[in-house]
Amino acid sequence: MGLTDDIATQLTLARKRSLALLEPLDDDALWRQHSPIMSPLVWDLAHIGNYEDLWLVRALGRPGVGVEHDDLYDAFRHPRRHRPALALLGPDAARTYLACVREQALDALINPRHTAMGVDGDDPLLAGGRVYGRVVQHAHQHDETMLATLQLMAAPGYRPRAPGPPRAAAPAGATPATASEVLVPGGPCVIGTDDDPWAYDNERPAHVVDVPAFFIDTTPVTNATYAAFVADSGYDDERWWTTAGWMWRHEASLTAPMTWRREGGGRAGGSGKGDTGAGGAGGRGWLRDRFGWIEPLADDEPVQHVCWYEADACARWLGRRLPTEAEWEKAASWDPAAGTKRRYPWGDADPSPTTANLGQRHMGPAAVGAYPAGTSAVGALGMVGDVWEWTASGFDPYPGTVAFPYREYSEVFYGGDYKVLRGGSWAADQTAVRNTFRNWDHPIRRQIFVGFRTARDAD
Ligand code: AVJ
Ligand code: FE
Repeated sequence: MGLTDDIATQLTLARKRSLALLEPLDDDALWRQHSPIMSPLVWDLAHIGNYEDLWLVRALGRPGVGVEHDDLYDAFRHPRRHRPALALLGPDAARTYLACVREQALDALINPRHTAMGVDGDDPLLAGGRVYGRVVQHAHQHDETMLATLQLMAAPGYRPRAPGPPRAAAPAGATPATASEVLVPGGPCVIGTDDDPWAYDNERPAHVVDVPAFFIDTTPVTNATYAAFVADSGYDDERWWTTAGWMWRHEASLTAPMTWRREGGGRAGGSGKGDTGAGGAGGRGWLRDRFGWIEPLADDEPVQHVCWYEADACARWLGRRLPTEAEWEKAASWDPAAGTKRRYPWGDADPSPTTANLGQRHMGPAAVGAYPAGTSAVGALGMVGDVWEWTASGFDPYPGTVAFPYREYSEVFYGGDYKVLRGGSWAADQTAVRNTFRNWDHPIRRQIFVGFRTARDAD
C-alpha cells in the first residue's frame, strides 16, 4: 500500500496547489487572456481535470466524467490565441469538474477493476505508478505555466494567498563556490534513464555518451553579470548574436530581460549605454517587475526571463557558450570517481528545503550559491531548482526511444525549433524535475522562469 498512499498524497498536493494558486484571483482575471501566447487560466484549470479524466479514469477502465469536454481541452485542437473565444467552463464549473474527476480517480486507484490494473502489476501504464506520475507532473507543469501567465498579467500584481517565507539567502558561514567554473572530466557517462518509473518517454532509454572534458559555470549567470552585458551595449553588438537572434532582437525590440525596468520610469529601453558605476545591477539603474510588483533587481540572483537568443548572445560576450544538453546532464548527475549516475545533483535522496529551491516555496530564485547542500559531484551549484537553464541543444529523440503512452507529449515536438531547458525552476514541483528531466520551448520564449549558465571546451 506504500505506493498507493504516496500516489494519493501526490494527487492531493497537486490539486491543492492548483486551487491555491488561482484562489487570490477574481473571476475576471481567470477568464481574461493575459497574453496571446498563454491560455486563459480557466482553460488551464479545466484542462488539468480533463487530462486526469482521460488518464486516471477512462484509461483505467471507467466511464469518463466529462467526455463532452474533450474537444475544448485538447491542446492540439485549439491554439492558445483562440482559446478565449471557446465556450469554456467557468471557474466554478471547472472546480466542480475537477472534484468529480478526482473522486473517480481515487476510487479507481483504491479499487482497480482488475487486479492486473493495480500499480504493483506489470501493465506498462501502471507499473510503478507511471500513469499517476504523468498526471501529477502534468498538473504541476500547468501550475508553473499558470505562474508564467501571472507574470505576464498586467496590474494588479499577483500575490499568493499564503506567501512562502522570504527567499533563502546564502547561509552564514557557508562557503559559496570559490571558483567560477568547474572542470568536468572527459569520458563516457550515462544520459537518460531506464528505471525511473515517473520519467517521461523523452528521458528514455538510458544510453552512454562520450562527453569530452569541458568547464561549466559553478552557478547560473547572475543579474549583475547580465547587467554588465547590457551596459556594454550587448544588445547593439551584432558580434554576439546568431543571425536569427539578431533578427529577433530587432523584430521584438529586445533591450533587456522581460521583467527589467529602467529606474525612473518606462519599460526597459535605451541603447544600454548606461552608467557603469559601482553598486551592482541596482546601481546601474534597473528595477524588476515580479508578478506586477516593482522591486529592486538583486545582483546575486540568477537572471530570469531571457530568451534563448539572449542567453546565447550573453554567453558569447563572456567568451563562452551554452552547454550542450549532454554536458548539462553530466555536470549535474555524473560522479566521475564512482562512475555512477545520481538522480539529483546531490545524490538520490528526494529534494529538501536545504538542497534545492523548488516547489514554489519562494516566489523566485535564491541568490546563487544559496544551496551548498545541493552541490553536484563535480562541484556545480544550483543545477536543480531556482531557474530553468537554456542549453545549446535542440529537442531531439534519444536513440531507440519509444513514444509512450501517447505521441503528443514528446514525439510531435522532436526536431522543431525547440531548445532544451534543464534543471527546473523555483516554480517546478519536485515530482516534475530530476537530472534526466527534459523541458523545451521556442528560442524566442522568455515568460518562463529561465536563465542559463555557460561552458567552454577544456583543452
Ligand atoms: C513540456 C512544458 C513544453 O507545456 O507544452 C503540458 C508540458 N504537455 N501539457 C507544455 C505539457 C502537455 C509542455 N512542456
Ligand atoms: Fe497539458
